[in-house]
Amino acid sequence: MGCGAIAQWHVEALQAAERTTVTACVDVLPEKAEKVATMTGGTAGASIADALNIGVDALAILVPHHLHEQLVTEAFATGVHVALEKPMAPSVDACERILAIADQHRDQVFMLTENAQYWPEVLMAQELINNGAIGELVTARSWHNFGITKEFYPSDQAWRFQQTAAGGGVALDTGSHWLRPLRMILGEIDEVVAITGRLWEKMEGESMVRSLCLFESGVVASFDVMLATGAVGLQPHFQFTGTSGEIVVSALGEVRLFDGKDWSGTVVGHGSYMDSYKGVWRDFESAVLDGTPLAADARYSLGEVRAANAIVRSGQTKKWEKVW
Ligand SMILES: NC(=O)c1ccc[n+]([C@@H]2O[C@H](COP(=O)([O-])OP(=O)(O)OC[C@H]3O[C@@H](n4cnc5c(N)ncnc54)[C@H](O)[C@@H]3O)[C@@H](O)[C@H]2O)c1
Repeated sequence: MGCGAIAQWHVEALQAAERTTVTACVDVLPEKAEKVATMTGGTAGASIADALNIGVDALAILVPHHLHEQLVTEAFATGVHVALEKPMAPSVDACERILAIADQHRDQVFMLTENAQYWPEVLMAQELINNGAIGELVTARSWHNFGITKEFYPSDQAWRFQQTAAGGGVALDTGSHWLRPLRMILGEIDEVVAITGRLWEKMEGESMVRSLCLFESGVVASFDVMLATGAVGLQPHFQFTGTSGEIVVSALGEVRLFDGKDWSGTVVGHGSYMDSYKGVWRDFESAVLDGTPLAADARYSLGEVRAANAIVRSGQTKKWEKVW
């Protein structure tokens, strides 16, 4: 439910999920529901009750952040499995309330669909690092600069510009997809220090973050994200530096290992960010149908919400802020 921008990406990825059928396409705007119904062969509806009448075993909740808690609560009450888009909710308190409800419905799968958990290049880098390809991790960089698109920012009134609906700016929203891989590879973030900026007058949350994340391991990584006002050049998504080499994940999906054998490094793999969405549905499908554990439980995603909130606080205090 929620047949907006990301629903269409998920619909494409769901074509690779062989045991899942989209039956109901629910949106409060009939034209949005009809569009996704046409794409999938599903039936359009306007509410969870409509979805149940059409027939569903699971609901994907793909709506603006301030609606997550209410709709997840309603969905759990109906007995269906639930996949909820990131961030779980704008505040940690709301996330905890959602997790408490999920705890009362343990026979229903609850997935927080952080697609970066399944980002192929990240998984390749993680495996190389775990296998010692660059020695001990010393530091890392992450970078995500992107522009305004009609798809995600359709008008000046877009919910992403409003604090009450989005719950924050780029750190909480798209930044989560870069925070998750850092956490997967470097562990938990202990504290952050950040400069935040508002490049867009109409956006109430921050549209620029330049930050350092200090991990519990003592390793520090930079985390930069920006909703740019103009064109941006390409920088690597991630650069992991170890005691004996580096791994660079390029913005074009290349994973390159620098281990001293060749000054220009060795391309060890290619991937596609878009394939991360296929991973989401493979994992959810097997959790629902086979009872397998999810790659990451929903509670794990609190780490991105907490880190984003600490980054916003640090932008105000200009001091290191604890994440936990
Ligand atoms: N994983 C990713 O890469 C990624 C990318 C973009 C968005 N997202 C997340 O997906 C969610 C939705 O974002 P979006 O960009 O698709 O937003 P969107 O505005 O494009 O789509 C949201 C849709 O929800 C509908 N909606 C609102 N209230 C509803 C209700 N009560 N019942 C049913 N439908 C309702 C709206 O009409 C709209 O069509 C957010 O949590 C966002 O952070 C994730």
